[in-house]
Amino acid sequence: MASGKVRGSEKRRSSITAVPVLIISIILGVTLIWNKDEFKQTFIQRCQKFSGYNCQTIWDVFQQAFVNRDPCEVLPKAYDPLFLLVPLKAPCNTLMFWSGANYVAHNFTKKNHCFKTMEDFMLGSVLNDQKWCGKKGSNETYNTGCPNGTACDKYPVDFFWRRSSAAFGDAACGNVTVMLNGSYSSPFRETSVFATVELKRFEFPRVKHLTAVLVIQENSDTDCSNDSLKKLEKELRDKGIGYRCSAVTQSHLEKCASDPDKPCGACWSQ
Ligand SMILES: *[C@@H]1O[C@H](CO)[C@@H](O)[C@H](O)[C@H]1NC(C)=O
Ligand SMILES: *[C@@H]1O[C@H](CO)[C@@H](O)[C@H](O)[C@H]1NC(C)=O
Ligand SMILES: *[C@@H]1O[C@H](CO)[C@@H](O)[C@H](O)[C@H]1NC(C)=O
Ligand SMILES: *[C@@H]1O[C@H](CO)[C@@H](O)[C@H](O)[C@H]1NC(C)=O
Ligand SMILES: *[C@@H]1O[C@H](CO)[C@@H](O)[C@H](O)[C@H]1NC(C)=O
Ligand SMILES: *[C@@H]1O[C@H](CO)[C@@H](O)[C@H](O)[C@H]1NC(C)=O
Repeated sequence: MASGKVRGSEKRRSSITAVPVLIISIILGVTLIWNKDEFKQTFIQRCQKFSGYNCQTIWDVFQQAFVNRDPCEVLPKAYDPLFLLVPLKAPCNTLMFWSGANYVAHNFTKKNHCFKTMEDFMLGSVLNDQKWCGKKGSNETYNTGCPNGTACDKYPVDFFWRRSSAAFGDAACGNVTVMLNGSYSSPFRETSVFATVELKRFEFPRVKHLTAVLVIQENSDTDCSNDSLKKLEKELRDKGIGYRCSAVTQSHLEKCASDPDKPCGACWSQ
């Protein structure tokens, strides 16, 4: 009897909730469609800020990397056609890498035109802060309900950035710069994308010298003598690449970035 009662009330509850659920599903469905369109629109709009690219073609080639595939089974090489279509070319001495200090690095390169991060180039700029995936049996691009690093450790967004980082490491030439986070106990993290992908692509004599800019806070006693930085230095020296490290406060960088009279690199040369 008790269970009948429970079931009865459940039944009532489900018919009462059916209408709101239907409405919510419609709203959700519309939002999903809208989100999908919005993702493509953002892609095209951001792409069009750069001249000389056929943004529709780039979108089509981008999509082919992951549509109609299980999002957990997209490999970095799926993006090879995209990087063939849009090669990453940069003048020597201008590339700015970052690890754990992305906002500071991006703020810096937005104001200081001597340096560029990956997100200042076309593909990086178009896909920065975006999420996307495909689904098996569908030719659509989704940007909601995509797996994150918890569902599977390989998924389309991560692998895009790994592929992109490899291209960025290959594009590095002359003197390169990396901004590291001095608030971390190990500013050079051996598991970071910088350490595992980008640095591995640096080769002498294409890359001659690396300047590590250790971004610290006021009154911080962190400096370039940290053990993790010794590992970075050793890895570079073993390849014949020069190394220098300079600890600078975040507030100094913010002020210095927009000073038009400063020569390139002057914000961290002593
Ligand atoms: C360093 O990391 C901390 C903690 O994640 C963050 O709050 C801080 O903004 C980062 N510093 C820089 C320079 O990006
Ligand atoms: C980046 O710049 C914006 C706007 O100038 C500022 O609000 C923000 O705090 C800056 N972030 C960092 C991490 O420097
Ligand atoms: C997806 O497939 C349908 C039916 O085959 C087709 O009409 C549509 O143009 C395709 N969309 C994309 C984005 O390829
Ligand atoms: C990642 O996805 C899982 C479900 O697949 C979810 O439980 C978790 O909250 C998500 N984590 C983040 C950081 O979004
Ligand atoms: C590259 O770095 C080295 C060592 O700091 C310096 O001597 C050289 O002038 C730099 N070259 C350029 C083009 O900045
Ligand atoms: C330096 O690096 C070590 C590990 O490499 C870490 O334990 C330590 O906290 C770091 N910071 C300072 C200020 O020494």
